[in-house]
Amino acid sequence: MKKQWWNNKVAYQIYPKSFCDSNGDGIGDLQGIISKLDYLKDLGVDIIWLSPIYVSPLADQGYDIADYYNIDPRFGTMEDMDELLAKAHERGMKILMDLVVNHCSDEHEWFQKAIKDPEGEYGKFFYLEHTSDPSTLCNWRSYFGGPVWEKLPGHEDYYYLHVFHRKQPDLNWENPKLREEIYKMINWWLDKGLDGYRLDAIINIKKALPFKDYPVDRDDHLAACTLMLKDATGIGELLGEMRDRCFKPHNAFTVGEVFNEKDEELADFIGDNGYFSTMFDFSETIFGQSDQGWQDNVDIKPDDYKACVFATQKRIGDIGFLSNIIENHDEPRGVSRYIKEGDQSETSKKMLATVYFLLKGLPWIYQGQEIGMENLKISSIDEVDDISSIDSYKVALEAGTSKEEALHMIEKYGRDNARTPFQWNRTKHAGFTTGTPWLRVNPNYVDINLESQKDDEHSVFSHYRKLTRLRKSEKYSDTFTYGELIPYMEDMHNVMAYYRKSQNQTILVIANYQDEEQTVPFPSTIKEVLLNNYEDCVIEDGKIALKGYQAVVFEL
Ligand code: GLC
Ligand code: CA
Repeated sequence: MKKQWWNNKVAYQIYPKSFCDSNGDGIGDLQGIISKLDYLKDLGVDIIWLSPIYVSPLADQGYDIADYYNIDPRFGTMEDMDELLAKAHERGMKILMDLVVNHCSDEHEWFQKAIKDPEGEYGKFFYLEHTSDPSTLCNWRSYFGGPVWEKLPGHEDYYYLHVFHRKQPDLNWENPKLREEIYKMINWWLDKGLDGYRLDAIINIKKALPFKDYPVDRDDHLAACTLMLKDATGIGELLGEMRDRCFKPHNAFTVGEVFNEKDEELADFIGDNGYFSTMFDFSETIFGQSDQGWQDNVDIKPDDYKACVFATQKRIGDIGFLSNIIENHDEPRGVSRYIKEGDQSETSKKMLATVYFLLKGLPWIYQGQEIGMENLKISSIDEVDDISSIDSYKVALEAGTSKEEALHMIEKYGRDNARTPFQWNRTKHAGFTTGTPWLRVNPNYVDINLESQKDDEHSVFSHYRKLTRLRKSEKYSDTFTYGELIPYMEDMHNVMAYYRKSQNQTILVIANYQDEEQTVPFPSTIKEVLLNNYEDCVIEDGKIALKGYQAVVFEL
């Protein structure tokens, strides 16, 4: 693997709408982000990914873009964006935007022109089917529920494809004219000084054509559109072209949102001449997911988490450099998902932080993760904003789940969990806004907020700061970045431990992934304790006694 400038960095995801509101309208914005750059710098962040801030009706919170060249006024202006780029660069930080090009908004000019003239140039920017009989259309189910086909507004005999929400018509990547428009737009941003992109839902840009039915897999008589992805071949040509036309000439950093890639494709995706710089490891994210809906999902246990993570590390080997996360804006809070319900504490949160942060790969922090933000309790479906939760609720009820259970299911898997406003302090609305927040603040902000953690050496926040400093320290950076990862005591129940080894250093990360104490064989003598979420640890007779959720990092 060729070494890259970003290998030893720390990345951070901002969900702008919920990060910091500078003008009291209840919506986070670019000036809010600018005001927190020094905070992020101090945390140890080098690369920032912004979820979409382009002009959008926000049907899917900005992942439905109506104008790729402008900033939505709710988030600010292009001057604000230029200021953000300049101020981040002054501080040696990089800014990534979200590249959402599987689809645009139905309010985008291209789609509006397609409506006016379906057989014209812009009709070909989308997947339109000309028929008066919708039963002839293929039977795919969209990710957010319901058929992927929707009547083209103002027409009785045209339908358009949307694999996500109906306000997100899919763009036709088979059309070279569309591709040119996309590349022009990407290059426009990169020329402006943007440092790179996170590539949204990118695997969906290649469809298996011609359209055909798949075996029905639920009572709605539809088939998951993901079945089509397995048949779609040739995505490499599209991604390779985009890399060569846009990312490579700009030396841009890119991170792909890629699900279910095949082993043999890894090198194509993130090898030395890969389509992207890196991509997220979602193996633990998708663990336990059921095709039938959230109501059938299976909880992930510590041993499952460990197995997912280690399997990915083995698979990737030296092919490329992965991106490691415990949460993002589409997922529940990591501490609520990967720590047993009821066991969430400062100690267990620090343990989880330690074991994922020191893996091989680029560590990402999602806003609020660094203070241990947790999932949100809900009492009624009316409180839910997320479109995918609302659909999943419907599916669960239809499958016979009780209302109570269905709500608990949203508490566990819903996307609002990650989208509640950042908890800055204990004042009203957690200091996120002086107005009314667009989504309610998690009531636990009185206990979990940055202000109360900032100067407390033992807080979750301070632990993250220690982790970024340790990972990037002159002495250990090379081992944490490039050192081999070798699992230790891999089969031991509720223990997650691994070595990071370089030529002249051996580091051991060892964690007791449960509330009960546990004694674990200890392999050798210690040079130094680099990090510990307890005051001390006891090593005797070749054994280490670990307290509940204790995690220790040693140099051996
Ligand atoms: C990605 C985004 C998600 C969005 C979807 C459609 O998965 O992360 O938030 O809803 O793509 O753009
Ligand atoms: Ca605002």
